Amino acid sequence: MEETDSSRWIDCNDRPVDRDPNLPPLRIRLAGHAVTRLVAAFPWSWALLRPGVEAFFDSAATSWDSRTAAGSYEYLEPLAVALGKVEVRPERVLDIGCGTGEATLFLAREFPMAGIRGVDLSEEMVRRATRKVGLDPSARVSFRVGDGSDLPWPENSFDLVVQVNVPLFLREVARVLREGGEFVSVSTLGADTPFDTPERWYKRALSRAGMLPAASGRVGTGTWRIARLSGDERSS
Ligand SMILES: C[S@@+](CC[C@H](N)C(=O)[O-])C[C@H]1O[C@@H](n2cnc3c(N)ncnc32)[C@H](O)[C@@H]1O
Repeated sequence: MEETDSSRWIDCNDRPVDRDPNLPPLRIRLAGHAVTRLVAAFPWSWALLRPGVEAFFDSAATSWDSRTAAGSYEYLEPLAVALGKVEVRPERVLDIGCGTGEATLFLAREFPMAGIRGVDLSEEMVRRATRKVGLDPSARVSFRVGDGSDLPWPENSFDLVVQVNVPLFLREVARVLREGGEFVSVSTLGADTPFDTPERWYKRALSRAGMLPAASGRVGTGTWRIARLSGDERSS
């Protein structure tokens, strides 16, 4: 029997076409790109977009880990590289849009003395993440349902805020960060990530939130960025 290779397609002229089997379908990428740009430019638009995003990820939760390989070396590599460059030694870390919790649990391994929180819009994602924690009497690692645009924590709650493949709500990130805190954002498929925010939009949203870009890079298929609160933000 002839072996089929799922990464090869045939075009209309019967020529083989290379295809990255890990790339989400085009319609998902386009929809994701529209969401990230809209919320970066017009944060109020999130109220209209949120119900659709929430429903999508509730139904995606069941197969998320197997479909995206969210716990794999390749998926987490850009986050690992960025964490190696942050200056803060965090006591409290937040993962926004934690999904099934793979990056959150990686943060827990990287910072074994820190309290780690994961928050996600999707109840189904949070249920799956919570099941992975196991015995944790001190509740060092925990997950809750919540919205990155209105985080359920007071000001100055975290030294490090992280997000992997999630739209940006930087005013909220700036609000919950402590002085000297850092923000890491990752797109595991670079510009092909549905929820990737292009550089120009990222920089504009950072500046509106009183944050400054600190470093960025590319590794494997992914990109990572680090930002900090500017002194002005805290003194105002
Ligand atoms: C592409 S998935 C990434 C999940 C996880 N970070 C990972 O890399 O496996 C995006 C996640 O962000 C969540 N999300 C999207 N917008 C959010 C928001 N405003 N607040 C909290 N979670 C959000 C979705 O429910 C979904 O679980």
